[in-house]
Amino acid sequence: MKAGLTDLLAVAIDAAYAAGRRTLAYFNTRVDVELKSDNTPVTCADREAEQMIRQTILRHFPTHSILGEEGGIHDGDKSYRWIIDPIDGTKSFICGVPLYGVLIGVEVHGRPQVGVVYMPALDEMVVAATGLGCRWNGRPAQVSSVAKLSDAVVCCTSITTALARSDAFENLTSRTKITRGWGDCYGHVLVATGRADIMLDPRMNPWDCAPILPILQEAGGHYTTWNDEPTIWGPDGVSTNAALHRQVMDILRGETVKPAWKEKP
Ligand code: IPD
Ligand code: CA
Ligand code: CA
Repeated sequence: MKAGLTDLLAVAIDAAYAAGRRTLAYFNTRVDVELKSDNTPVTCADREAEQMIRQTILRHFPTHSILGEEGGIHDGDKSYRWIIDPIDGTKSFICGVPLYGVLIGVEVHGRPQVGVVYMPALDEMVVAATGLGCRWNGRPAQVSSVAKLSDAVVCCTSITTALARSDAFENLTSRTKITRGWGDCYGHVLVATGRADIMLDPRMNPWDCAPILPILQEAGGHYTTWNDEPTIWGPDGVSTNAALHRQVMDILRGETVKPAWKEKP
């Protein structure tokens, strides 16, 4: 079924909002936590939210493909692939920290062109579609114009993981002004809305960043791998404003990766 970006975005917004509100029923309720085979946690809130999103997508676009973190692949028309992370920041969700988000991205003919991040506990929504701009709670969103590393605010998810990878995190944060954790999708949202300047994640899956790439591009910034590829299929990710992108890339591409990370990235 042929679909325009406006229609895809509208369905993604509705699906993310409804699923996000459902997660709040479980937030701060000491919900049971299971460990998946990769040793990462999951809850019934993750599973229910993804199920709701899948049902909404298939109700509107029954022929489209879906890839979801919890539910895997639904084979369909490869021209439209919906990529879902029902709760990005499950560890935050489990701790009762409100910095978790529902992520929905859509690849159209293999290009990530639609992105929605909804932060239910903050009631913040950031959305974008290629050529249609980026909006934060309905208003235009833009990256910052900070141009010097010495003025930059850097976010990351796990500082321990960043330090375990290479010398890049220290090389970057020793030159910047402020460093903050509790990242996951919220760090990228902060860059897209001009409240932070750089967000680093040394380990990413496509569902962790499918909406992030179009959101950053439409907000006037960049989302790339640490090797400067503008893709959601890389092993890592970084969001920056436009002015700092080159300087950040020079540091990340010059990293010395630690032997233990090379053995088990
Ligand atoms: C995690 C976050 C984090 C990334 C991890 C992911 P989850 O997602 O996106 O930033 O470094 O690799 O697992 O498990 O909370 O959806
Ligand atoms: Ca995730
Ligand atoms: Ca998740």
